Amino acid sequence: MDMKLKIAQTIAEAAGSCFENCSLCGTDVAAMLEVPPDKKLGDYALPCFRLSKTMRCAPQMIAAKLGEKIESEEIDHVEVVGGYLNVFLRRGGLARNIVEAVLQNPGRWGSSSIGEGKTVCLDYSSINIAKRFHIGHLSTTMIGHSLKRIYDFNGYTTVAINHLGDWGTQFGKMICAYKKWGSREQVEKGGVQAMVDLYVRFHAEAEKDPSLDDEGRAWFKKIEDGDSEAMEIFSWFKEVTLKDTQRVYDLLGVTFDSYAGESFYNDKMTPVVDELREKNLLVESQGAEVVMLDDYNMPPAIVLRSDGATLYITRDLAAAFYRHNTYHFDKCLYVVAYQQNLHFKQLFKLIELMGHDWYKGMEHVSFGMVSYEGRALSTREGYVVYLEDLLNKAIEKAREIIEEKSPNLENKDEVARQVGVGAVVYFDLHNDRNKDIDFRWERALNFDGETGPYVQYTHARCCSVIRKAEAFAAAQPDYSVITDDEAQDVLMLLSRFPETVRKAMEQNEPSMVTRHVTQLAQAYNKYYFEHRIMEEGDPCGTAARLNLTRAVKDVIKTGLYLIGVEAPERM
Ligand code: ARG
Repeated sequence: MDMKLKIAQTIAEAAGSCFENCSLCGTDVAAMLEVPPDKKLGDYALPCFRLSKTMRCAPQMIAAKLGEKIESEEIDHVEVVGGYLNVFLRRGGLARNIVEAVLQNPGRWGSSSIGEGKTVCLDYSSINIAKRFHIGHLSTTMIGHSLKRIYDFNGYTTVAINHLGDWGTQFGKMICAYKKWGSREQVEKGGVQAMVDLYVRFHAEAEKDPSLDDEGRAWFKKIEDGDSEAMEIFSWFKEVTLKDTQRVYDLLGVTFDSYAGESFYNDKMTPVVDELREKNLLVESQGAEVVMLDDYNMPPAIVLRSDGATLYITRDLAAAFYRHNTYHFDKCLYVVAYQQNLHFKQLFKLIELMGHDWYKGMEHVSFGMVSYEGRALSTREGYVVYLEDLLNKAIEKAREIIEEKSPNLENKDEVARQVGVGAVVYFDLHNDRNKDIDFRWERALNFDGETGPYVQYTHARCCSVIRKAEAFAAAQPDYSVITDDEAQDVLMLLSRFPETVRKAMEQNEPSMVTRHVTQLAQAYNKYYFEHRIMEEGDPCGTAARLNLTRAVKDVIKTGLYLIGVEAPERM
């Protein structure tokens, strides 16, 4: 039940009977249909300009001819304005169609099976060992998590991968520092922060005593050689990092199917490098082995350093082959900040040059930077905001607001968590992902305006209407009463939700869902303030408005779910 497609099919049929040389199908027309900015211009509009060449007829004439021919149960009337055919839907019927369709399959409106039998790998969050999770990691984590849900919702098999940053000489230095100045208790108690402190100390001391660098290198060599002591400390560092990070993942509700990170590919790079060599793609440059990419306006990709060491891209090459061979992906998405644009362009190009067609399924889903209260974050200047602190502060603030607004609420802690975390996540997924974001408390936690709490509050409002109108639930709904403009806005947003979800998936852009669900909440609130839902003398009309409310509640919940935000029933 896709209203837009239905209308488009009706128009396509009309076009077929008016114009002999017309071969438009419903989907062609659907792609052309626009939503007019003003309801006075109809619910949908078909610009006929593009058709005029093939149909050899002026746009106004096309619109007029189509207008005469069109007939459908869904359409109330059409108007021809300029070269546009404006379509006005039959309102009572629209309400019945859409509301019942949504309610038929709760939680599934907008889902599809277009991904059935296909697999998408999603590489997101991909944290670095012995570093703390700060707000710069929020976008990769939440965009990835949301995309996973959106692909799942469309029937894809998804594989969520946390490509751990667990390889590099810094880990040798860290072990060296640990052996010299650290203790088991200290790291166990201090967690990742204790490791960071050790690392900072290493650098300070190495300034004075450069021989420390050699010791650090020696420890890294031990990791490479699989020395048991080095390996034991290293994997313990990893464990501590993952345990610390898990607290944040638990708050966010984020999960992974695989934690195969950089070190996982230690023994999987040789065949890939060999293949590059066999295909004559590797050349020597100052002792290193590189692939020249001048023809594609890119600097060379260094695959092996002069000392034979592998690089970030070497591991990503191996990882791509591994994912392809293991999961047979149709798509492999990398949700990583735009600073790594070149890296991924090089990576995809290498696989293309190796002659593997599946590079076409790989995509870099980039995103902008996060600043905090107007200031760019900088580890060097000591201006860092840790994600766990941010989330806890959001929960605390949400708790204060709840205490003030709904002192009698039963599960305040639970709701404060849902609202606090929801506010942060919504804020992150509200703008086009490539835009930079400036996190501001007063904007994130506002209960009015385009915020998570606002949308959640609308959901809770719907729940409350439904609870109060329980007595009317048994009446036969009479949808013919739902004809006003405010309801029409709500209905159109419900009906277009599936299309938005589809587009969000095609463009890997969760913010489309965020904005749609926000518009739906705004439209419903407008409806709620202008109309009485419960009318004593009108049980059938009340039942219809109640069902409309139910449908809104359901779709808001689904939309929030798709962006990783929970929807409390009471706030
Ligand atoms: N750990 C990397 C970083 O923090 C991101 C890894 C992204 N994934 C990948 N396959 N390269 O920059």
